[in-house]
Amino acid sequence: MEFIKVTEQHEPAIALVQLYRPKELNALSPQLMQELRDALQQLDRNDAVRAIIITGNEQAFAAGADIKQMADKSAIDMLLIDQFSTWDQIRKVKKPIIAAVSGFALGGGCELAMMCDMIIASETAKFGQPEIKIGVIPGAGGTQRLTKAVGKAKAMELVLTGRFIGAEEALSYGLVNKVVPVEMYLYEAIQLAKEIVQMSPIAVQLAKEAVNRSFETHLDEGLSFERKNFYLTFASEDQKEGMKAFMERRKADFKGK
Ligand code: CAA
Repeated sequence: MEFIKVTEQHEPAIALVQLYRPKELNALSPQLMQELRDALQQLDRNDAVRAIIITGNEQAFAAGADIKQMADKSAIDMLLIDQFSTWDQIRKVKKPIIAAVSGFALGGGCELAMMCDMIIASETAKFGQPEIKIGVIPGAGGTQRLTKAVGKAKAMELVLTGRFIGAEEALSYGLVNKVVPVEMYLYEAIQLAKEIVQMSPIAVQLAKEAVNRSFETHLDEGLSFERKNFYLTFASEDQKEGMKAFMERRKADFKGK
């Protein structure tokens, strides 16, 4: 694997999965996401593992889907590649997953953190759904999971303005479980995992499934609706302009077409 590092023996029964594309702030390319899916599915089948932690590095959990790899795609390209279908398989992992987040968790990075079962954040963590700033919308669950996590008013504000929120604000909305100093976030995630791996793995699996059931009723429909609309934004000139402006490090000039 090129973009994922797995440490199974970090602590007994706990696997640490690190996103590893540091130069790109762990931008979630299709290859990275496929590797992540493969790693998580293997760990899910491994009886020695009872809890999984996904992390990035101090600077970034992940800064979103890879804009450079998407910028020139058409709506039909996006529909055919259907890159977010990989994410559905990650959501089917039965073992508990904790996101240990420091630095940027934006766009797909925030969506990936929200797909995990719990989030431990460092004080430096920044969450956001900034897709609107590049002429698209969240495409991997943001409009659905953020709304369920923080409520309609805040989700609407964050999705429509693309504003980033700090860890303490995220905690006050109930988006994260705990905020700790940056040198502690991985340690705290491991402490939480250690507590969970003491429990019956069967009960843990069933409890996770049951909590998700309450959370996910109608989620399939919401996700596929959101995904189609995300792909559809690639039919607009604003998407091309937004992503191009990002790469050219200038403000986007949206024309509404
Ligand atoms: N895709 C591709 N490359 C990215 C990236 C992304 N999402 N985010 C950052 N990078 C790259 C930058 O292009 C840069 O690479 P180069 O040095 O080769 O130019 C490198 O990572 C470092 O980034 P910056 O120089 O921009 O770092 P910064 O500290 O000035 O800014 C940032 C950090 C605020 C996170 C800024 O990089 C940023 O705004 N990133 C994009 C965030 C974003 O819009 N995410 C949503 C993506 S779309 C999406 O995720 C859809 C979905 O729903 C799944």
